[in-house]
Amino acid sequence: MMATRVPGRRSTIQQYKKRWLSYPCSTTKAVQFSLDNLSHIRKDLYGDQENVSHFNSAGDSPMPRPVLEVVKNHLDLEARIGGYKAAEEVESLRSEVYGKVAELIGAKSVKEIALVESATVGWTRGFYSLAKAKLKPGSVLLTCEAEYAAQWVAMKHVCRDYGAKLVTIPSDPVLGEIDLEQLPKLLHDHNVGMVCVTHIPTNGGLVNPVEQVGQVIKSYNEKNKDSIVYIVDACQSVGQWPVSVKSIHCDMLSACGRKFLRGPRGTGFLYMKQTLAESIEPSHMDHYCAQVELDPADTSSDPTVVFRQGAGRFEFWEASIASQLGFGAAIDYAQSIGVKAIQTRVTMLADRLREGLANLPNVSVHDIGTVKCAIVSFSAEGISTLYLKTKLESKGHCLGVVPSSSTPIDSARRRLPGFILRASVHYFCLEKEIDTLVEDVENLVMIEKEKVSPV
Ligand SMILES: Cc1ncc(COP(=O)(O)O)c(C=O)c1O
Repeated sequence: MMATRVPGRRSTIQQYKKRWLSYPCSTTKAVQFSLDNLSHIRKDLYGDQENVSHFNSAGDSPMPRPVLEVVKNHLDLEARIGGYKAAEEVESLRSEVYGKVAELIGAKSVKEIALVESATVGWTRGFYSLAKAKLKPGSVLLTCEAEYAAQWVAMKHVCRDYGAKLVTIPSDPVLGEIDLEQLPKLLHDHNVGMVCVTHIPTNGGLVNPVEQVGQVIKSYNEKNKDSIVYIVDACQSVGQWPVSVKSIHCDMLSACGRKFLRGPRGTGFLYMKQTLAESIEPSHMDHYCAQVELDPADTSSDPTVVFRQGAGRFEFWEASIASQLGFGAAIDYAQSIGVKAIQTRVTMLADRLREGLANLPNVSVHDIGTVKCAIVSFSAEGISTLYLKTKLESKGHCLGVVPSSSTPIDSARRRLPGFILRASVHYFCLEKEIDTLVEDVENLVMIEKEKVSPV
């Protein structure tokens, strides 16, 4: 095929493709952590030159330069030749993104993956479609205490509409994670149609035992004709923690691209087992997820609606191709470092931060769970969290604040403050940045306390 020449430019589409493919992110050569290549990784971080310490990967992590380049280059191409033409040119690269997601989470096939705009878009499209098939008057939807608020709202909504009941699996009172001993009894006592849990919540270091939950549901389903669908929110885990749909035994799982995967905003995916996806209708449809077919021999007959195969039926036609390509590049970047290596490093860094903060007077660390991840949540007694965040930002620490309304059940049960600080580390963070954050928290809290009770 002839290369398309962009009018008035020396570059051709072919040259663009060559550049695209030569980005470092498209080589999945394993990188072992050492100070040497950590400095390479840091060079891919814009913030490194601006004296910002990034502790907000649970909110939105800075894209590495190669990911940003992929997005920018595609936008550039769109501006030159038009978005539709540009999409045609990169379609084979875009379609590879499905395989990258499938590999990342151990899905069997690309047909189990839908590319969507956010974790919530993926979760709600799958959830509402499944709820219609699974919930009826008298059935129960089980969830966990740490579930994200967006999902609570949707679950309450469908339970009201279908006459079902929303029941929370209690957390272990000491450890804080889903109480695995309670689960078999709940499954036995109720007519459970769906179980929806969050792997890693938005508000702290907890890692819920989603694999063990999946094992309990699998055993139950083996004796009860696969009556329960199991849904996992992996929004905070992909990119910092190994996530395998095979080990979790889930039917559906969702996540976004902008957090620990370091992809662009406006990206995410929905995983759904192919057989399950093909057994239900999407709650919302357009002419991409389903096609209207008319019998040419009898054009006056009723047209039939034919759905796309697999999870593709949860996608709509319009999408940001630049962002989807960037999402694929972000997965390549994470894979080139290795998710296991990332998990080891973030655990070490988060433990250091947690320990440093826990030793400070008037500071409370709120993380629960036997196993803890990259998210560290804390607050200071008698000092406004939002004020403290602003003060820490002025010292170059970029971190997040989580309102209790984001995890309503967990926050109420643990009586968490209205807002807590969330410092989420990633592999590119440095020990010295963590120590400086701890020092700055200590000094700020001391100054504020002295203002309240001057000596
Ligand atoms: C645990 C969890 N689930 C779901 C979401 C929703 O993700 P998104 O904003 O991409 O829809 C978030 C966002 O912070 C989250 O922390």
